[in-house]
Amino acid sequence: MNLHLGVGDLRPDGYHDLATIFQALSLTDEVTVAIADEPGVEVHGEGADSVPTGPSNLAWRAVRELAEHVGRDPEEPKIRVVIRKGIPVSGGMAGGSADAAATLVALSSLWRLDIGRDELAGVAARLGSDVPFVLHGGTALGTGRGEELVPVLSRHTYHWVLAFDRRGLSTPSVYGELDRLRADGDPPRIGAVEPVLEALASGDPGRLAPLLGNDLQAASVSLRPGLRRTLRAGVTAGALAGIVSGSGPTCAFLCADADAALRVAAELSGAGVCRTVRVAHGPVPGARVVTEDTPR
Ligand code: C5P
Repeated sequence: MNLHLGVGDLRPDGYHDLATIFQALSLTDEVTVAIADEPGVEVHGEGADSVPTGPSNLAWRAVRELAEHVGRDPEEPKIRVVIRKGIPVSGGMAGGSADAAATLVALSSLWRLDIGRDELAGVAARLGSDVPFVLHGGTALGTGRGEELVPVLSRHTYHWVLAFDRRGLSTPSVYGELDRLRADGDPPRIGAVEPVLEALASGDPGRLAPLLGNDLQAASVSLRPGLRRTLRAGVTAGALAGIVSGSGPTCAFLCADADAALRVAAELSGAGVCRTVRVAHGPVPGARVVTEDTPR
């Protein structure tokens, strides 16, 4: 989730320079890696049908990238990756990136690699702009494509309500729509990052709420106009503020506390503006091994 997503101009390499504050939320996928005679990826859970399981799958690319990095044959990794989705697919919540980060962490453990977090972050950055952050977790300021990270002091647990849309949005198409909107006119850009950092240090959700901002929001709303209604419904339900998460279409609503989040979630569910509503909190740690079996 990006609390602040400032998008600069299109770079010659097809990416945009970002100034973003990431916060990891308590919404997870479960990724299992095992040595197997039938290598590959399988995906289960909601939205699993729309996740590719071939060579383009980001978790599979993580297997091959890490194999190559440590001098194993990247063509023949005898690894099976099983993903159970809890994070919406193409939802602007970095779910594919989270699967790739989890795969890196799990494989490092399975292969008993002597590889530090910084080195792993280098491999992560080759897989996608958000992968280093989901590996890291917590709250962090991201620059460059979003892959250059500095941890941010955050004093509070923030309570969120997430509204998942019926269909996903493709990240490149949302960035493309922003370029188009900017070529047509000059949509207002969000403010500086510093006040957001100060609000996070204060730990006051009421101070953070009005500062939440996302330059991609205009583009995702332009592609999915119904999001306007969802954003309004969350605030009407009692959230302090709502924004589109990343490239969307998931909408994230900041609430005053855990009880308020439950109330907002219940009311938003009843409003019928989205597919599913979830509560989550942040910051939480990044990708980590939760159970470790003895490697065969
Ligand atoms: O890095 P990742 O593969 O996740 O990026 C997906 C797409 O999102 C890129 O191909 C690009 O179109 C867009 N993107 C961007 N600027 C960024 C990050 C992503 O334009 N900083």
